[in-house]
Amino acid sequence: MAFCSLLCCGMTSNRREHRKKSSTTWRVFSLKELHSATNSFNYDNKLGEGGFGSVYWGQLWDGSQIAVKRLRVWSNKAETEFAVEVEILGRVRHKNLLTLRGYCAEGQERLIVYEYMPNLSLLSHLHGRHLAECVLDWGRRMSIAIGSAEGIAYLHHHATPHIIHRDIKASNVLLDSDFQARVADFGFAKLIPDGASHVTTKVKGTLGYLAPEYAMLGKASESCDVYSFGILLLELGSGKKPIEMRSPAVKQAITDWALPLARERRFGAIADPRLNGNYEEAELKRVVLVALICAQSKPEKRPTMLEVVDLLKGESKEKLSNLENDEMFRPEPTMSCQGVSGPDDNSDCITEETDSRVDVKQGTYSLPEAAAHIS
Ligand SMILES: Nc1ncnc2c1ncn2[C@@H]1O[C@H](COP(=O)(O)OP(=O)(O)OP(=O)(O)O)[C@@H](O)[C@H]1O
Ligand SMILES: [Mg+2]
Repeated sequence: MAFCSLLCCGMTSNRREHRKKSSTTWRVFSLKELHSATNSFNYDNKLGEGGFGSVYWGQLWDGSQIAVKRLRVWSNKAETEFAVEVEILGRVRHKNLLTLRGYCAEGQERLIVYEYMPNLSLLSHLHGRHLAECVLDWGRRMSIAIGSAEGIAYLHHHATPHIIHRDIKASNVLLDSDFQARVADFGFAKLIPDGASHVTTKVKGTLGYLAPEYAMLGKASESCDVYSFGILLLELGSGKKPIEMRSPAVKQAITDWALPLARERRFGAIADPRLNGNYEEAELKRVVLVALICAQSKPEKRPTMLEVVDLLKGESKEKLSNLENDEMFRPEPTMSCQGVSGPDDNSDCITEETDSRVDVKQGTYSLPEAAAHIS
């Protein structure tokens, strides 16, 4: 998709729409303005670094704070990512999705300007630099779980055309000043034409969050996001990473660890120890059961994100009891590497040898070099 045509047709019409709805919308920034806002992309302003470049904090002349993503290497691929992200972010508006403030395309420079999220990413609180502060109490975790589910449900069910995110993970859930979730990073998103159930695509995403059918066959559909959301939810409840080292050569997927405990109804053993037992038991149980039902290998058995929102809110007792009675949660003799995929499939138990089959981003997790960045 050519950058110009995509931006021109997408943005002109969207701009008109947004003008009708509100006066604040995105705009084009000059490179000079962004240089001055970020102190010339000073190292001290750097918020983080991802697969496509660095993100800087900045302040505009009116005092408002921004986050500027400066794309690292310019290429045709980056051009497409840039165009897709800007186009998609420009058309969506939801309380749980990161708002686009604008973009800059001058010479070789491509920059995306977002609203600044003062509490940074979920990743930084669960495993990163804010880990020690322990600010994610149970109430905040529940509201992050429900809010991010609502944001993704909006993309899947209310945006036109529907949008698959394709890179749901802890670093892509940002937190505003009230610790409300804002799902970010639509550079990997795919627009789904009306009537299509899935699109076949080159695999993009981050190891540990990828649905098996997507990793193996490149079949992207809404249910791939549901799978990734399930992993994120388990991570949020337990404080564990999607893949943990069991020994120097063997890693364990978070689902393989949590499912046997859920079958034994030992939900407390799954809760993040940093919560010190301060959580609502019924909510924790919901989080764990919903997470596991989302992150199961059979896409047709996963719920939709609308159902996930309902289940997490606990509004229907009947649905919750159906969930708890699902065959997946029946007690079974545990096997060391049984996992969510079923007894005949040990693909969730990743060894050094099998990592190379998935060509995905290494992300923030300690994975071998074989799991290289996607093209
Ligand atoms: N709008 C924002 N407000 C505050 N911090 C942000 C914002 N956007 C990004 N960040 C910070 O910058 C970091 C890097 O973001 P970026 O999206 O480039 O990489 P990533 O999410 O770690 O990886 P990936 O490239 O796979 O998305 C994030 O983890 C987050 O801490
Ligand atoms: Mg990101």
